Order: sequence, then structure tokens, then C-alpha cells
Amino acid sequence: MSAAIIGAGVIGAGWGARFALMGWDVSIYDPSNGARERFEAVYATACESLPALFEHTLPEPGKITWCDSVADTVANARWIQESAPEQLAIKYKVFAEIQAHCPEDAVLASSTSGFMPSELQKGALRPEQIIVAHPFNPVYLLPLAELVGDENTIARAKPIIEEIGMHPLHIKQEIEAHIADRFLEAVWREALWLVNDGIATTEEIDNAIRYGFGIRWAQMGLFETYRLAGGDEGMHHFIEQFGPTLEFPWTKLMDVPELTPELIKRIADQSDAQSGAYSIRDLERVRDANLVSMIRALKPRQYGAGALMNKIDERLVNSSASYHDDQLVTVHRTIPVDWMDYNGHMNESRYGQVFSDAADTVLRLCGADEAYVASGGSFFTVDCHIQYRNETLPGETVRCLTVIAPLDGKKLKLSHEMRRASDETVLSTAEQLLVHVDMSTRKSSLPPSHIASALTELREGQA
Ligand SMILES: NC(=O)c1ccc[n+]([C@@H]2O[C@H](COP(=O)([O-])OP(=O)(O)OC[C@H]3O[C@@H](n4cnc5c(N)ncnc54)[C@H](O)[C@@H]3O)[C@@H](O)[C@H]2O)c1
Repeated sequence: MSAAIIGAGVIGAGWGARFALMGWDVSIYDPSNGARERFEAVYATACESLPALFEHTLPEPGKITWCDSVADTVANARWIQESAPEQLAIKYKVFAEIQAHCPEDAVLASSTSGFMPSELQKGALRPEQIIVAHPFNPVYLLPLAELVGDENTIARAKPIIEEIGMHPLHIKQEIEAHIADRFLEAVWREALWLVNDGIATTEEIDNAIRYGFGIRWAQMGLFETYRLAGGDEGMHHFIEQFGPTLEFPWTKLMDVPELTPELIKRIADQSDAQSGAYSIRDLERVRDANLVSMIRALKPRQYGAGALMNKIDERLVNSSASYHDDQLVTVHRTIPVDWMDYNGHMNESRYGQVFSDAADTVLRLCGADEAYVASGGSFFTVDCHIQYRNETLPGETVRCLTVIAPLDGKKLKLSHEMRRASDETVLSTAEQLLVHVDMSTRKSSLPPSHIASALTELREGQA
């Protein structure tokens, strides 16, 4: 699988990093000086954050190749992502060159924020091949891609977008600026008026969003949130109650304040006062760490982007036993930033979680899975001794190797060793004792023969 990135600025670099980290080979073309260094910085940042969204390790990253021409970049691509500047003349030139050299069945997607497919396709060799796949910055973390264009091309595009961990939002009717940016434009216009009229500063507007509705939007969006605002009577009641206020002359959404030098200076000065103490790099780091933590927070309740990440985890989980140094691999994952404590390393409670996940892998492999628990049997942990040997840092990939001791009646003893995957340093060890339980009495009991023999088989496999 190979993706071609044409234009590796803020957006193209983000696409390239996402494709590569999801296991695709990536070829890149960008004519500007310094594009490669800028891409490498984005890729390094993405390596720290994207893998941390998941509970299992991602496939090996794909190979990244820099090309000197569009022709070489697209020759073998299955997906081509155009992220050149937002000017039709440039995009037309780029599409003509791409289509002269790319496979006819490749998806050719544009990152354009504003143009519709019918505009992009004018004069094209194969118009239907060109669709819009509009992402959000940072592309390697935010999982939305708005897809607009030919139905057949989109049918081929959707599974690829899903494969790289994104939600393909198919917009059935083309419209300038698609859906999400129209929405942002409305908010942006209102914010400009609030600053222009001296009602609020840039910081006050940001606070209105981040302390309030911004947190709601990330998990329930607009309509589901408003449904709750209508109380038990729901959406109908909400619209009856608040609908008439739309007639009030509150907003100036159809107008834009004139962007005079004074207004631009006011906004820039307020923004400097608000955020000037931090570099763009500092702010990007904070943004990415917060995004990882927020998306991860949505996983347990299967909401929004969290539910999407859970689906990818299901794809990544190993359904059969795998071995490393002749030992059973029970956890292989990247340490997420929200597991870090004030010392800058993984909090001790998370070691317990890693070893608990390791035990769950053993139990799943021997058939004591969720269905078995529902049928009335389970294992409870009754003792666990953990040794912390070395610091475990966020962004590191770790592997947990587990030795299964002979099953003694109702008892199962597991010895775990958590190692840093890059150099095999032992970070922590644990000795864990589990007891088989009859869930109807919640008392210890002998495991059924199929579980006992599956455990014996696993133990012999590691020997
Ligand atoms: N910045 C955003 O937040 C954002 C979000 C979604 C979509 N987009 C869209 O993505 C596209 C790229 O935006 P960006 O913000 O990454 O811009 P950018 O200026 O950061 O990057 C554009 C890149 O294209 C390169 N380039 C210039 N001419 C080229 C050519 N002929 N062939 C190949 N590459 C060429 C430039 O060297 C530059 O690296 C635009 O269409 C924009 O609307 C931007």
C-alpha cells in the first residue's frame, strides 16, 4: 500500500505522518526549501502522539521516500493526497501532472478547505477521479475527513480512510467549504464582531469556548447536546423554547467587520498578550497532549472519536498467542501522555494496569474471556507484587512478557516482565496470583478442564 503526498506543508505533512504510522509506504513531493525538515519535525511529533491513542501497538511504520517530481511520487500510489496552496491555478497544474502519471484507479483527493469537486475537476483528464478529502489540523490526530465527489471514487476512498483511523464523513451534495468549516466560519465571524465592537478580548472569547460549550461539543456535538437542553421533552421542546430567539437581532452573521489595520492590530496584540509567552512549538505540544488525553477519555463510554479509536484497537488486538524471546507477549503498546505523573514518567498505578491487561491476555487466550465470565466463571487477582526497575516515559513502546507457572488446582501464577521495546531494558516486573472463581457463589472453584488444558498448552508453548 502506497500513498503519495503532493505538497507537504502543515496539512500534507500531517497526512504523510498518519499514512506512514498506520503502516503505508509514503512518497512525498514538495518543491519548497526546508519542506523535508518541516515534515520530519511533524513526523517526530506524530510518533509521540498517534500511537498513544491505542491500547495495542500499531503495525510497523511504512517507508517514507522523498521524490524530485510529481511523476515519480504518484507512479505506484493507491491514494494521492494533494495539499498544495489553496489557489485554483496551482491545483489545476498539479492535478494535470498527477493524472498524466498516476494509476487510473488511484484515489486522487484534495485537502482543499473551500473548493468544491466540480471546481477542482474543470479541464481534468479523468474528472471523477478527483474528490475532496478535507481533514483537520493536526491531521495525524484529528480523525475527521470530509469526503465529497463522485460516488464510485468515494466508495473506494471510504475503506482507506477508515483503515488509517479516520471517520469518512460523506457529504452527498457539494457546497463551498463543506460542512465543518462553514460552521467554524459562523463562529469566527461572530468572534471578529465581538472583538471589533470592543465587547470581548481574544482571551475572553477563548475562555467562553474552553470552559463551556467546547467541552460539550467534543463528545456530543451540537444536536445531541441541545436534545439534553430540552429536558425530558427533548428536541421538540428545545426548539419551541429557544427557536423564537433566533429572530432577535443578536448576531451579525451575514456581515464581516472590515478588517482594518486597527482591527488586525487589536486582534494580534490581544493574541500576543494571551499566548505570546509560548512558542508555536510549545502550543502544539500542549495541544497534542490534550487531544490525546481527551480522545482517550471518550473511549470507555464509546463516544465520538473515542468509539472510533476502540474500533481500531479491536483490529489491532492479537487473537492468537505471539512470542518474543520464547516468552508469551501479553502487552505491546505505547505509553500515553495521560499516564504520566508530576515526575514526568508513568505513574505507579499504571504499572498495575499494564500487568492486569497482561493477565487479561492470558485469560483471553485460554478461553476465560468475556463470554466465559458471562457464563459464570472467572479469575480474580488475589496477590500482586510489582518492582519498579527503570523509568517508563510517555511515548515509549513497551512489551510485557509473561511466564505461566503450572496451574495448581484453583490457583494460577503469572510472572510478568515489562521491557522497553527499543532496547529490551527491563522497566518493571510483577508476580501475580489469580484464583479461579465460580461467579454464582463468588467463591474459589476448580476451572473447567478446557480452561485448565488451554493454560497447560500455553505454558508448554512458552517452554
Ligand atoms: N491549514 C489548515 O488548517 C488546513 C486545514 C484543512 C485543509 N487545508 C487545505 O490544505 C491545503 C494546504 O494547506 P496548508 O495549510 O498545508 O498550506 P501550507 O502553505 O502550509 O502548505 C502548502 C505546501 O504546498 C507546497 N507547494 C507549493 N506549490 C506546490 C506545487 N506546485 N506542488 C506541490 N506542492 C506545492 C508548498 O511548498 C507548501 O509546503 C489547502 O488546500 C488548504 O485549504 C488547510
